[in-house]
Amino acid sequence: MAGLLENQVAIITGAGRGIGAATAKLFAGHGAKVVVSDRDAEPAEAVEAAIKEAGGEAIVVPGDITDPAFPEALVKAAIDAYEKLHILVNNAGYTWDAVIHKMTDQQWHAMLEVHNTAPFRLIRAAVPYMREPAKQEKVSGQTPEPRCIVNVSSTSGVHGNAGQVNYATAKMGIIGLTKTLAKEWGQFGIRCNAVVFGMIDTRLTKPKEQGEEIEVDGQKITLGVPGAVLSMAPMLVPLGRTGTPEEAAAGIFLMALPMSSYITGHVLEVTGGFGI
Ligand SMILES: NC(=O)c1ccc[n+]([C@@H]2O[C@H](COP(=O)([O-])OP(=O)(O)OC[C@H]3O[C@@H](n4cnc5c(N)ncnc54)[C@H](O)[C@@H]3O)[C@@H](O)[C@H]2O)c1
Repeated sequence: MAGLLENQVAIITGAGRGIGAATAKLFAGHGAKVVVSDRDAEPAEAVEAAIKEAGGEAIVVPGDITDPAFPEALVKAAIDAYEKLHILVNNAGYTWDAVIHKMTDQQWHAMLEVHNTAPFRLIRAAVPYMREPAKQEKVSGQTPEPRCIVNVSSTSGVHGNAGQVNYATAKMGIIGLTKTLAKEWGQFGIRCNAVVFGMIDTRLTKPKEQGEEIEVDGQKITLGVPGAVLSMAPMLVPLGRTGTPEEAAAGIFLMALPMSSYITGHVLEVTGGFGI
């Protein structure tokens, strides 16, 4: 059977680890040419190597998605390598938690930058290669090629989460962006959907006490979820467990499939039922 993403070119941000890495491998396994992008070059290169070893196609474009110049450079690299662009997955992100009375402006803005401003800039950078060819195809009466955007959100955004006012606001914001773009670009056949995750087993959901860190602008930020909350997962999640990155990637894949051609503006919850 031919791959379900044959002849599709996909940019995936934050594809060096976790959900993004699993998505890159799944897409490539289904025939997509994948642009693996991450701020950390080394894990991104490992994902590229794994894809190639399995017979897939990929390139790595390392960089910080919040650098105002990077989204255009990323799109250019994709076009230089593969000439077209069909799928954009805005996945890169992290958490920087604090209760509101202890939250700094820097923490607040960092979350909006990475989860809202960066996806906005990346989509805008893709206009000449997504919106414009789709418009040309429409004007000339051709069947449009499949094109879509998948944005990654969170149950923290949809339902709120104590200690994450910055992250929750940003993750709800990306849903507003998603629905607006579905309305702006639907006329050109370009779909835009969001996928909401609950507790997926990546470094973002390791016990906070384990001290996984990310360094942003020279500052070390502790990632993770308090162990007490994690231990409640079996009670909070109807499926009784956290999800794997591969199960999360399947939700993004579902939204990106050309056969999902009538799904747009949708917010898909891939949560094991958490929050229903
Ligand atoms: N893990 C979960 O339970 C969960 C739940 C809801 C939403 N999410 C979202 O899923 C997405 C992926 O997270 P994950 O759980 O796979 O975490 P992860 O830490 O395993 O992977 C995230 C990747 O994004 C990259 N990244 C972070 N900031 C970046 C930047 N400025 N520029 C480029 N790359 C950057 C990191 O280097 C990392 O490789 C994030 O948007 C996250 O908010 C995750």
